[in-house]
Amino acid sequence: MTGQIAVEALSEKEAQGELARLAKVLGVANRAYHVWDAPEISDAEYDALIARNAAIEARFPKLKRADSPSEQVGATPADGFTKVSHAQRMLSLGNAFDAGDIAEFDARIRKYLGVEAAVPIEYTSEPKIDGLSLSLRYENGVLKQAATRGDGVVGENVTANARTITDIPEEITDAPDVLEVRGEVYMSHADFEALNARQAVKSDKQFANPRNAAAGSLRQLDASITKARPLKFFAYAWGDLSAPLAETQMAAIERLAALGFATNPLTKLCRNVEDLLAHYAKIEQMRATLGYDIDGVVIKVNELALQRRLGLRSTTPRWAIAHKFPAELAWTRLEAIDIQVGRTGALSPVARLHPVTVGGVVVSNATLHNEDYITGRDSKGAVIRDGKDIRVGDWVQVYRAGDVIPKIADVDLSKRPKDAVPYVFPVTCPECGSDAVREEGDAVRRCTGGIICPAQAVEKLKHFVARAAFDIEGLGSKQVEQFYSDGWIAEPADIFTLQERFGQGMQQLKNREGWGEKSAENLFKAIEDKRRIPFARLLYGLGIRHVGEAASNLIAREYIRWQEFEAAMIRAADESSPEWARLLGIDGVGEVMARALTKAFAQEAERAGIDRLVAHLAVLDAERPDTSGSPVAGKTVVFTGTMEKMTRAEAKARAETLGAKVSGSVSAKTDLVVAGPGAGSKAKKAAELGIETLDEDGWIALIGEA
Ligand code: IVH
Repeated sequence: MTGQIAVEALSEKEAQGELARLAKVLGVANRAYHVWDAPEISDAEYDALIARNAAIEARFPKLKRADSPSEQVGATPADGFTKVSHAQRMLSLGNAFDAGDIAEFDARIRKYLGVEAAVPIEYTSEPKIDGLSLSLRYENGVLKQAATRGDGVVGENVTANARTITDIPEEITDAPDVLEVRGEVYMSHADFEALNARQAVKSDKQFANPRNAAAGSLRQLDASITKARPLKFFAYAWGDLSAPLAETQMAAIERLAALGFATNPLTKLCRNVEDLLAHYAKIEQMRATLGYDIDGVVIKVNELALQRRLGLRSTTPRWAIAHKFPAELAWTRLEAIDIQVGRTGALSPVARLHPVTVGGVVVSNATLHNEDYITGRDSKGAVIRDGKDIRVGDWVQVYRAGDVIPKIADVDLSKRPKDAVPYVFPVTCPECGSDAVREEGDAVRRCTGGIICPAQAVEKLKHFVARAAFDIEGLGSKQVEQFYSDGWIAEPADIFTLQERFGQGMQQLKNREGWGEKSAENLFKAIEDKRRIPFARLLYGLGIRHVGEAASNLIAREYIRWQEFEAAMIRAADESSPEWARLLGIDGVGEVMARALTKAFAQEAERAGIDRLVAHLAVLDAERPDTSGSPVAGKTVVFTGTMEKMTRAEAKARAETLGAKVSGSVSAKTDLVVAGPGAGSKAKKAAELGIETLDEDGWIALIGEA
């Protein structure tokens, strides 16, 4: 783990590093949980990491990575079920936590659509069911397929299981020829209690909560088990459709109810923000007596025409939001403070807690951010918690909200043990003993051990095999740790000599727990497959500080060939050279990243490690960006003057979705200017420079939308 600096205190560069780390850690965690069914971190830790990632992305939207965990809804499906590509992506929802967030949501929508405050926008509000989403495909009124969300693009085919749920009709009449009904599978409190009681009698596994019970019951390879489990289903949305259901969300839900689906009776039409807040308060009051778990309400723009205009972000619609119930608090004892060392050497303090349930989740770890946080100061030196420090043995208040990492919010000094002593933050690395130094202006203390530090070496290896890097099937975090501690791999290059070193017999590997002939063979095959590796993946996999996946892609596109890049990096070490200027000229590469790159190739030891690795690889040239698909991909577009059919924000979002770069000023680099009425100097400049200029209709025609 790198330093848990408060998100508000992160510098841009730190944020970039953090996002890279989170992408890596969460990628592995996702697969461990969803694919291997062997979670490597607790739910609480997972939620906290997801929340932190979202908070950082919210603060630095530009740093959002191509492999952002917020883009990965769930994980790719487990092997047991066949896979289903969703005709329309299954989305997740953005979160709101208070009245201010809801007002902002409304304001954002108004701004996007260009609707003034005086003109009403209607919303629907309904309970957010805490279950798992399911998509049901009906063709000519007959249920053909049921699929879980999976990663939002590809889910698991659970048709046989879904057929056992009585809320799900096998046939429907008067429906569009193609209709995908989406909703939530859940288990009632009463059914959950009864199921656990039955399980206890059979000495079978207990489920932690109704949602886990619902998920475990639906995702059964043997549908007869699902049948014996009392699952329920609420319909609240739809996917692929051959004909519209209605013109409004409310009418569409009524239509689904008329078709025979259970819809939530607390779904209400709200005319403004006040209505929304009132309905939220009402549902919150009813929460305890509903008989099933909900974790907030879901708000949706009622007019479907407006929903269409608002469209989607990568995984969430702009036209809906989840208004979550408030954060939960709990008091527990701080049993220990551990220091974790991350890939870049950052020392981060983690609170080990006496396990406590916070908002339905057992929390046993929380972040302590950094050394200043423990002493009662934020990273800028300002007093927090009235200056109370945190000591081992203290009673601490754990705080957990949907988008906030579990953290220690407060300390109860009246319960402080007499012998509690102030925590002393280590100045040497707990893993390798090297000095841990804190550079000026940095909230984080870092181990200076580099690759001699086992924690850094292991984290680097884990990064190397991660999904966005070498993505070696069968070589996950756990295996990397095992191989490292067995002395089989110390650096990436070693992965590619594993088989040769093991020889034909592979006896050593097969003797290890969890490995057999077949899995060893598969592993070696997976490694062989990755000897041919795209330039960008190799670069990202090296785990050079500040060089994330997006940057790796940009850099690969600039240099195309690995050899050329390596040579260029060596020349670029001279910061007065044209190669340095070329590197900095890449949009998205700043000085800090550029220096990290040239340093990596200039340092003897690091360079040698890269060379040893590359000797085993065939590095594939990067592809020049493909501009064939969209008429504006890769082009720089400037919007000026008034747009009449859409707002500027809407136009910009559309253009960016189509791969264009939207700029605020006209220059020789501009490819296209879209000028509406009132366009002034920018249109004039475009004319002078001979840049193609379109009016709004011309633009709409160009991008193919009538
Ligand atoms: S609408 C396009 N409505 O919450 C919007 N989702 O956190 C799709 N959920 O993936 C979702 N109750 O599994 C919607 N009334 C409701 C919901 C609901 C629960 C779940 C759903 C979704 C997740 C997002």
